[in-house]
Amino acid sequence: MADIDILGIESSCDETAAAIVRSGEQILSSAVYSQIATHQRFGGVVPEIASREHLRAIVPVVRQALADAGRTYQSLDALAVTRGPGLAGALLVGVSFAKALAFALDKPLIAVNHLEGHIHAVLLEERQKGNHQIRFPLMTLVVSGGHTHLYLAEQKENAWTYRNVGHTRDDAAGEAFDKVAKLLGLGYPGGPLVDQLARHGDPKAVKFPPAQIKHRQRGDRSPEPERPHFDFSYSGIKTAVLRHVELNHMQAAIDERRAAVARLTKPKADAIRQLCDQHTLDLVASFQHAMVDDLIGKTLAATREYDINTLFVSGGVAANSELRARFEQRGADEGLAVHFPSRPLSTDNAAMIAAAAYPKFLAGEFATAEVSAEANLSLQ
Ligand code: KG4
Ligand code: ZN
Repeated sequence: MADIDILGIESSCDETAAAIVRSGEQILSSAVYSQIATHQRFGGVVPEIASREHLRAIVPVVRQALADAGRTYQSLDALAVTRGPGLAGALLVGVSFAKALAFALDKPLIAVNHLEGHIHAVLLEERQKGNHQIRFPLMTLVVSGGHTHLYLAEQKENAWTYRNVGHTRDDAAGEAFDKVAKLLGLGYPGGPLVDQLARHGDPKAVKFPPAQIKHRQRGDRSPEPERPHFDFSYSGIKTAVLRHVELNHMQAAIDERRAAVARLTKPKADAIRQLCDQHTLDLVASFQHAMVDDLIGKTLAATREYDINTLFVSGGVAANSELRARFEQRGADEGLAVHFPSRPLSTDNAAMIAAAAYPKFLAGEFATAEVSAEANLSLQ
């Protein structure tokens, strides 16, 4: 079959990204402009600023992706864009730009769900490694700043369908990493910082009780009431960290650290570690350990319930070293194939969008001129 080159565009949160992927399996280029430095001083993503930054970055990022791949606009077979879920204004920049470009070039446009993109990041890299044989049934955990979702994924020819079998009732796992890092005065984004700092602390020092969730009962509206829903909840652990801080009178030291981190020109983990005492490092390590325990415990309970052969773990939090190491170990113990994307493809990027678009291209599933950004788009 002829090579199909798709230009993917992603702008759902704080990364403006463009990539060219050949036939869903070969990354020709992947350019990511991260806005982290811009949002850092606010301690989180500011939606209005994100939209403005996307506007500034989108043309250079797309040009970069073309130049890195040695392609021209005319050589592309199709364009793909993230339609949702995400920040409404941020999504709108990508969708409007992609629509206009597709119209001007007279090329087909494919609308992609961001969560489906995270799932296809794994498929893309498996194919790139030569693994074309995924053993179904397949479950995927998408764990990011906005989502902690479990899906059963099915493939019939070029049609992928997804069924949600669990999600967070409150905060997403990445959000918990970000909020805990913020309340400890460590900086933003929290996930990568906690990951690095946790290596220097004792993960058993502080005990966090597991989140208690009442699963939906028989007779509720779930399609298969005899099978439990595997929901997550991460607002409790954030409150438990806060309580620990109060009980142990850590607030004054945290305020000092926050001010010192704000003065750093490049707030890197090593410099931030110098601002942490051992007790703080132990708290960080214990928090991460409890998060990973919960994510793995619930996910593996779901894989057992659904007799799963293959598990994909994707999304920003899938970059976490402890999560990766322990998932791989537990998967091997249980005879479950566990696949992660490489770290650059775990967090937001456009290669995953171009890869998810490829089966839709083959199926002729193109967006109409009416396609719009959908902040709350669900995955089915
Ligand atoms: O997928 P992503 O780039 O954007 C969303 O779609 O949300 O995920 C970003 C999230 C942030 O919450 C960030 O703190 C978290 O992923 N994250 C991590 C790590 N790297 C990024 N969390 C834990 N450990 C990491 N190494
Ligand atoms: Zn994401």
